[in-house]
Amino acid sequence: MKVSVIGAGYVGLTTAACLAEIGHSVRCADNDEAKLNMLRSGQMPFFEPHLEEVVSRNYEAGRLQFESPETAVTGAEAIFICVGTPPLENGEADLSAVANVARTIAQRTTGYCLVIEKSTVPVQTGQQLKRQLQLYAGKGLRCDLVSNPEFLREGSAIQDFFHPDRIVIGVERDEVAAQLREIYRPILEQTFKCPVHPECMHTEKPAWIVTDTNSSELIKHASNSFLAMKISFINMVADLCEAVGADVTKVALGMGMDPRIGPAFLNPGIGFGGFCFPKDVATNAGCDFSLLKEVENVNKRRIAQFVEKVRKELWVIRGRKIAVWGLAFKPNTDDVRFAPALEILRLLVHEGATVSAYDPQATEKAKASLPDVRYCASPYEAAQDAEAVLIATEWEEFSNIDWDRLRRIVSQPLIIDGRNMFDSTDLISHGFHYISIGRQPAFSTDGASSIDPTAELHSALK
Ligand code: UDX
Repeated sequence: MKVSVIGAGYVGLTTAACLAEIGHSVRCADNDEAKLNMLRSGQMPFFEPHLEEVVSRNYEAGRLQFESPETAVTGAEAIFICVGTPPLENGEADLSAVANVARTIAQRTTGYCLVIEKSTVPVQTGQQLKRQLQLYAGKGLRCDLVSNPEFLREGSAIQDFFHPDRIVIGVERDEVAAQLREIYRPILEQTFKCPVHPECMHTEKPAWIVTDTNSSELIKHASNSFLAMKISFINMVADLCEAVGADVTKVALGMGMDPRIGPAFLNPGIGFGGFCFPKDVATNAGCDFSLLKEVENVNKRRIAQFVEKVRKELWVIRGRKIAVWGLAFKPNTDDVRFAPALEILRLLVHEGATVSAYDPQATEKAKASLPDVRYCASPYEAAQDAEAVLIATEWEEFSNIDWDRLRRIVSQPLIIDGRNMFDSTDLISHGFHYISIGRQPAFSTDGASSIDPTAELHSALK
């Protein structure tokens, strides 16, 4: 099928490359000519595992092309709208890019095509889109509008595209569902050569859910909001654990065993970030979904609470040398949009700390929004002479740290972990004090008095 994907961001580029991989002829479009040239020369505008290989394979095979939106919509049988919907000042999504694409399609397309809305949009955007298409339509445009929300997680987006748990589409006519089914057939039947797993064992077929467009849009919105709620909920449980002397890891384990609750998304920490969740909890189509306001408030408080934890240990932040490990909003991505790590960095810099930061992928993107930080090439370089090492993103690389080496280079052996990556017994055995979220602080007595004036007090209080 001749498919066009408008928008070469996290969702669009992944969708375009994966649709080409399952055999479609795909034109991927973006307004940003520099980005298109970058892609044509084989460079990726962002880091996403496996994306580069899927893009280059399909670009070289001629199944994937990079074009302007104006040329890409011409002659397309199906057009996926994947442009950005950044949050406005009130937190709701800015739909101007979606509206512009609708106008381009209406003015450039003749004959029949499917217009598929994949960008994260508020409920009823499909109806507005349809109105725009009709309003601006030139000669002979006939189209059907489909809502087909993405559930791709950054960091595992390629895997999620090929092995989704469900594909949701919202249509106005049954025949349209059949056309969409045809586009996704290799995924629905799991008949493709998996680019993620060389010996792929994932053969389970995804569910195919067909609804009206409003329900389909709401499935995406409600799913994201529910996940955000789960995170804020466990974060409140973590606070409760700290207050009563319980351990949130064990509480979450016990809760997650109940199949009605499930173990996923019960990791407490410095809160959710990324481009989707903050926007989703702020969008409510005029209904007073007050529960989500509280989800957002709880999430916002995580940052200040974490900085308070740092202050409690260091007493004074001004003039302290602090290392921050992790900048991306979560591991396996270089995306720093709404990253809690950056907020923490901002507050520390504002208070006068000397901050050194390290992230395996996100340094360049972080530099652009926070230049007043020393960015380092390794976690050890960032931790050199640090009075505290803060963990802001749970990258796998940090699980393989040589603690003895780290112990020798820091000025104070203090780890404050905003993602609960480690086991306190292990860190204490290497001479570190370990502060985490929703668990009791753990202090080492090993040589502590010579390195931390508060350690004796901590040991006495234990
Ligand atoms: C999300 C949805 O999961 C995905 O379906 C949708 O299509 C896009 O938005 P993504 O933003 O990539 O995906 O990230 P996700 O893995 O959902 O994590 C979101 C945030 O929540 C991250 O900042 C993560 O660190 C945080 N998180 C997640 C927690 O703090 N605790 C958890 O238990 C899980």
